[in-house]
Amino acid sequence: MFEPTTQDPFEQFRLWFADAEAAEVNDPNAMTVATADSDGRPSARILLLKDFDDQGFVFYTNTQSHKGRELDHNPFAALCFHWKSLRRQVRITGAVQPVTAEEADAYFQSRARGSRIGAWASQQSRPLADRDTLMADVARVEKQYEGGEVPRPPHWSGFRLVPTRIEFWHDGEFRLHDRFIFTRPQNGAPWSLQRLYP
Ligand SMILES: Cc1cc2nc3c(=O)[nH]c(=O)nc-3n(C[C@H](O)[C@H](O)[C@H](O)COP(=O)(O)O)c2cc1C
Repeated sequence: MFEPTTQDPFEQFRLWFADAEAAEVNDPNAMTVATADSDGRPSARILLLKDFDDQGFVFYTNTQSHKGRELDHNPFAALCFHWKSLRRQVRITGAVQPVTAEEADAYFQSRARGSRIGAWASQQSRPLADRDTLMADVARVEKQYEGGEVPRPPHWSGFRLVPTRIEFWHDGEFRLHDRFIFTRPQNGAPWSLQRLYP
């Protein structure tokens, strides 16, 4: 049985995320991110949650990737976490906005040098002839920045999803799960809490 212990969904998420960090074998911050094109056709993939607070949920990617282009045309997304060991799911939806350049720079510089090189070398989601072509691109970027800092590429940044719906789901016996949804009409408005049928 699960009942939220707080009226603040960010606090509830923080509690569950800490449980997931303790329980999951890897990537407790892995989440499905669903976006849609301008005709409303959806696509989904796993990304890593890199930051969250009461301003929203942050992920980083190539802004010219498939998802980046979709977010450019249709800046709404849905996130879904499934923490298998805990038998819990969290679903989050809302509008998506770019993080600031300072925020993206700070996170980019915290990444391993190889990942920073890779961000320059990968034209994420575009056709690639073969692995050798990618490794040649990596070698070219390595040479370009040899002995120096690797700056953040202009096509690599983060997005913050500002939620208006956050649903907490906990597995129950005989599929009689507990579901609670926090909703608000827009950012800054007070949250309402509602239990849902499983
Ligand atoms: C566990 C896991 C974590 C991932 N984390 C990221 C990430 O943080 N950012 C990213 O751009 N892609 C990440 N990926 C790769 C994406 O799932 C996806 O392949 C890539 O972003 C291209 O997606 P798109 O073509 O829909 O834009 C991750 C994949 C997995 C399986």
